[in-house]
Amino acid sequence: MSVIDEVKQRLDIVDVVASYVPDLKKAGRNFKAICPFHAEKTPSFFVFPERQSWHCFGACGTGGDAFSFVMKKEGVDFGEALRILAQKAGVALSPPERSEAQQQSQKLKELNEAAAQYYHHLLLNSSVAQQARDYLARRGVSEKAIEDFQLGFSPPEWEALRGQMARHGYSDSDLLAAGLLVEKEQGGAYDRFRNRLMFPIRSSDGRVMGFGARALDDSLPKYTNSPQTAIFDKSSVLYGVDRARSAIRKEDLAIVVEGYMDVVMAHQHGFSNVVASLGTALTEKQVGAIKKLTRNITLALDADAAGQMAMLRGQEVISQTFSQPSSVAGWTDVRYENPYNARWKVVILPQGKDPDEIIREGPEEWQRLVDGATPVIDYVFQVVASKVDLAELDGKSAAVDQLLPIVSEIKDPVSQAHYLQKLSRLVGVNERDLASALSRVRARSRARQRDPVQPSTLVSSLQAKDPLADYCLSLLVRYPELRRCSEELSADLFPHSESRQLLLAWRECGDCDSIRTKLDPALREYLDSLTAKPLPPMTETQREEAMTDCIYRLRQRWLRDMKAKEEALISDMQCGDAAELDEVQRLALEINVQLRQAFLHKQKRTRSSEVGA
Ligand code: CTP
Ligand code: MN
Repeated sequence: MSVIDEVKQRLDIVDVVASYVPDLKKAGRNFKAICPFHAEKTPSFFVFPERQSWHCFGACGTGGDAFSFVMKKEGVDFGEALRILAQKAGVALSPPERSEAQQQSQKLKELNEAAAQYYHHLLLNSSVAQQARDYLARRGVSEKAIEDFQLGFSPPEWEALRGQMARHGYSDSDLLAAGLLVEKEQGGAYDRFRNRLMFPIRSSDGRVMGFGARALDDSLPKYTNSPQTAIFDKSSVLYGVDRARSAIRKEDLAIVVEGYMDVVMAHQHGFSNVVASLGTALTEKQVGAIKKLTRNITLALDADAAGQMAMLRGQEVISQTFSQPSSVAGWTDVRYENPYNARWKVVILPQGKDPDEIIREGPEEWQRLVDGATPVIDYVFQVVASKVDLAELDGKSAAVDQLLPIVSEIKDPVSQAHYLQKLSRLVGVNERDLASALSRVRARSRARQRDPVQPSTLVSSLQAKDPLADYCLSLLVRYPELRRCSEELSADLFPHSESRQLLLAWRECGDCDSIRTKLDPALREYLDSLTAKPLPPMTETQREEAMTDCIYRLRQRWLRDMKAKEEALISDMQCGDAAELDEVQRLALEINVQLRQAFLHKQKRTRSSEVGA
């Protein structure tokens, strides 16, 4: 038995959830509570002991097993969730064996840490760093902030770091891999960072992943950053997150600024929930990292960026503020949390000032700006309203053209109604006419998508094993060409976290070896069992058919499962309020339709293959 199975066997999901959600109450055969993942008044979060699963029927629309619950609740990956649950269950985990890739990234972090210490030491002690110390003093950076952020100085030499690291036994090739050296064409290497103020960039667990390096005068480029390495990816960096994470959790708000200096200055003045995106548009990966800490994000935009945005159309403003959510795996659980959400706000900074200057001149002013942050969607309204002439007919219709599609994207009905009313007041068109236009917009966008089923979760039978999932995944890892016909496979179709994790790893990797390195060691055994699973010999066409068939079976299973769960829900709500019951029944009808479609499709397929035979 694998450790994963052992943990599952020893723990009851009800206990696991109850340890995080104390108000979990019995409801018939199941348990319910106010959903711990979104704000709500009536409980729509259910735990199903017989299936050892959970599901939120409210805004989240997701669910899973004990592992996925802990992953979501603690904001950790599968491996960490396994460690937490294993400890609860009293199951001993063998110390994780490190793969080669893990060893390499371990080494790169070590190197970066050593470099950060070296640069920091020079900044504090070396005479060549006098200029840098003066610079920081001029900019009002305190000694404590220099310590806290471990700021440093790279000397104006070609081989200072290289020499220093060589003395500690680090090779050029490792230093090159860490992005600390640059390779010369004629062989050899030199220090990437010279005569610059150094900002070590740390991951949320405090490890140095790379550097930002500022020139001490007006020489260009103003900043040089570490290049993309095995551990550093600028698009996913949140500068300061290691120092900000606990404050972000506590205040339930993350404030995102642009620059290194803005973060240092904010923290120096006690605004500890501030991180920097190192660019303008917040990327999906950055949002993902913040979401582990809070769902409230306020973005500080400088007046120039805001001005540029004012040139854009409504929809574009949103995509420039937050790079557009795409359908990649991992984003799925923020499906209900798009930039139209009122929890995402912007602060427009006064012309020519960045947070660093504002805070230095007066921390109260910064606090006032943050308190007055505008929801992104209200900001879009402002931008559109400032560009068109609302006294004229074509101005009004331009405003409706730009804003109505955005209003139609708002998932929460109350807030959608609010913005419909706001639009109605803005253009002076009555709300009923707008509402009927809105339903036309919706019908159009629905016709565009025509994405048959977007299952949000799957809970399967009691059994710990899931042969259908195993079969499907073993096809995938064995036959790379199946990638083509597996786009519709959603992680949600798999009830068990092991299968989900494997699917996600497979999505990211080309071949089996790299999946192995991506996976948590505890899951490698599972991967091995899949690659070893005997499969009958199949032609390429038969494999594709087998895959398509798997997808339909998974989907049917998911739908049936949703039905079973709804029944539990409806029986629990018999005494509940009528509107709630209506909503569940509406959902039930929708699922019936999808279920019928899935069966029809299956029948058609079976018939056509019989004809073909
Ligand atoms: N940036 C960068 N590379 C550049 C310019 C900017 O990575 N060539 C990133 C840095 O993270 C920088 C942020 O974008 O901190 C904002 O840039 P900018 O406003 O130009 O710099 P400031 O942070 O305001 O720097 P300073 O206050 O020291 O001038
Ligand atoms: Mn600045």
